[in-house]
Amino acid sequence: MTAANKRHAVILAAGKGTRFNSEKPKVLHEICGKPMISYLLERLESLIIEKILIVVDSDSGMTRKALESYHPEFIIQSEQLGTGHAIMSAADSLKKLEGSLLVLYGDTPFIQPGHLESLLSACENGCDEAILTTLLEDPTGYGRIARDASGAPCDIIEEKEADPQQKLIREINAGFACFKIPQLLSHLDQLSNDNRSGEYYLTDMVKILNAAGKKIEAVQIPAGNEIFGINDRSQLAAAEKQVQKEIALSLMESGVTIKNLDNVLIHASVLVGPDTSIYPGAILEGRCRIGSNCSIGPNVHLIDVEIGDNSKVENGSTIRASKIGSGCHIGPNAHIRDHSEIGDQVRIGNFVEVKNSTIGDQTTAAHLSYLGDARIGSRVTIGAGTITCNFDGENKNQTLIEDLAFIGSDSQLIAPVRIGQGATVAAGSTITEDVPARHLAIARSRQINKKR
Ligand code: UD1
Ligand code: CA
Repeated sequence: MTAANKRHAVILAAGKGTRFNSEKPKVLHEICGKPMISYLLERLESLIIEKILIVVDSDSGMTRKALESYHPEFIIQSEQLGTGHAIMSAADSLKKLEGSLLVLYGDTPFIQPGHLESLLSACENGCDEAILTTLLEDPTGYGRIARDASGAPCDIIEEKEADPQQKLIREINAGFACFKIPQLLSHLDQLSNDNRSGEYYLTDMVKILNAAGKKIEAVQIPAGNEIFGINDRSQLAAAEKQVQKEIALSLMESGVTIKNLDNVLIHASVLVGPDTSIYPGAILEGRCRIGSNCSIGPNVHLIDVEIGDNSKVENGSTIRASKIGSGCHIGPNAHIRDHSEIGDQVRIGNFVEVKNSTIGDQTTAAHLSYLGDARIGSRVTIGAGTITCNFDGENKNQTLIEDLAFIGSDSQLIAPVRIGQGATVAAGSTITEDVPARHLAIARSRQINKKR
C-alpha cells in the first residue's frame, strides 16, 4: 500500500452525552453486554486500518480502560466544542499521517464495513471528502444534504441551522465521512463556531472544501438500522432490542430454540450449542458457554457460566462465574456462586447454595443446603439441610467430603473438617472432628423418652 493509500480512522467519543444524563461516557453505555463503541471498533477490523485515533474528554480513564485492547491512540479534547473541534484537537497527530482518514462517531456504531469501504475507495480514487447519506421519511435531528445545480453535495445544514425550506430535505448526513488527510488539515482552521449552537461543526467542511474547488462525493445508501444514532436512553433501548433480536435469530439459525424472543436477554458474547432450549425470562450474560441439548429456564440468570451437554437449569436459578458439567440437573431456585466447579450428572436441587466449591460426578445435594469452600467427591449424598460452616469469624475454612460419603439431613460440618471416603454422618449431627473412611459419625445428643 502506498503512503497516499494508507487508511486511518478517528472515532469521536468525547462527552457524557447531555441527553443521557449520566456520569458514564455516552459511548460506554452497553448494548447486549458490550459498550456501544465496541460494535464500531469491531466493524473496522476487516478494513485494514493502520492507525485508530479515539477522541475522548479529559476525564477519560473509564473509556481508556474499556478500549485499551484495541490499542488506539487517545486524543484529549478538553472541552466539547463540537465535532469539528474534536478533529482540531487531533490535528497534531493527524499531521504525522498520510492517506485517507475515516471520521466516525462513537454513538453510531452499526455501520456495515462495506459502506465504509466505499468511502475509503472514493478518497483513494481522487475524491477529497466522501460522505455517507441516506433518504429518510422523517429526517428530523439529522444534518441535511444540500446539492448544487450539478447534483454534487455542497453543504450539510445541521437541524439547528436549517430554515423551514431546508428542513424539508429528506437526504441526510448519516454521520460517516472520509477525508484526504492533507486537504482536511489545510482547511481545518476555516471552521468557525459562528452559528446558533456556538459549536464547530465538522459537517461545515463540505461547504469549505466545495468553495475551495475540491471534489466531494456523497455515497447514498438505503435507509436502515446501520445508521441509527444513539443520543439518549430511549434510542439505547431501541438499539438493545434490535441487537438482541439479531443475536437471538443467529442462535436460532445455529439450532437453538428460543421460546419467546421478546422475553430473553442474551449477550453478544454468549455461545449456545444446538438443540438447547431457552425459556422466557432467561438472562445469559458475559462469557457463557452452554452445551447442546440443554434446557435453560424459565427465569434463569447465568453470568460467565460454562455448562456441558444435556444439562437442565430450572426456574429461578442463578449461576455466576462457575462451571457445570454434562447431564446435570440444577434447580429450581438453586444459587451457584463464583468459582464453583460441578462435575457430570450432578443434582443440585431447590434452595441449595454453592460457593467456591468443587463437586464430583454423580453427587446429589437435592434440597436446602449451603456448601461453601467445600471439596466434595463423586457419588456423595448431601442430605437436606446440610450446612458447611466455613466461617469462624475470621477465616474461611475448607470442608473435604470424599467419594461415596453420606451426609445425613440437617448436619453441620464445622470447617476445617474432613469426611473420609464412604463415611456416614448421622442426621442432625454437628461434626467438629474428621470422620475416618467408612466410619459412622453420630454427633447429637441421645434421645430420651420420658413418661408424662
Ligand atoms: C451528527 C452530525 C449530523 C449527523 C448525525 C448523524 C455534526 C455537527 N452533526 O449530529 O450532521 O446527521 O451526527 O448521527 O457532526 N463528539 C465529540 N466531541 C464534541 C462533540 C461530539 O467527541 O465536541 C462526539 C460525540 O461523543 C458523538 C459524536 O461526536 O459520539 C457525534 O456528536 P453528536 O453531538 O451526537 O452529533 P449529532 O447531533 O448526532
Ligand atoms: Ca449523535
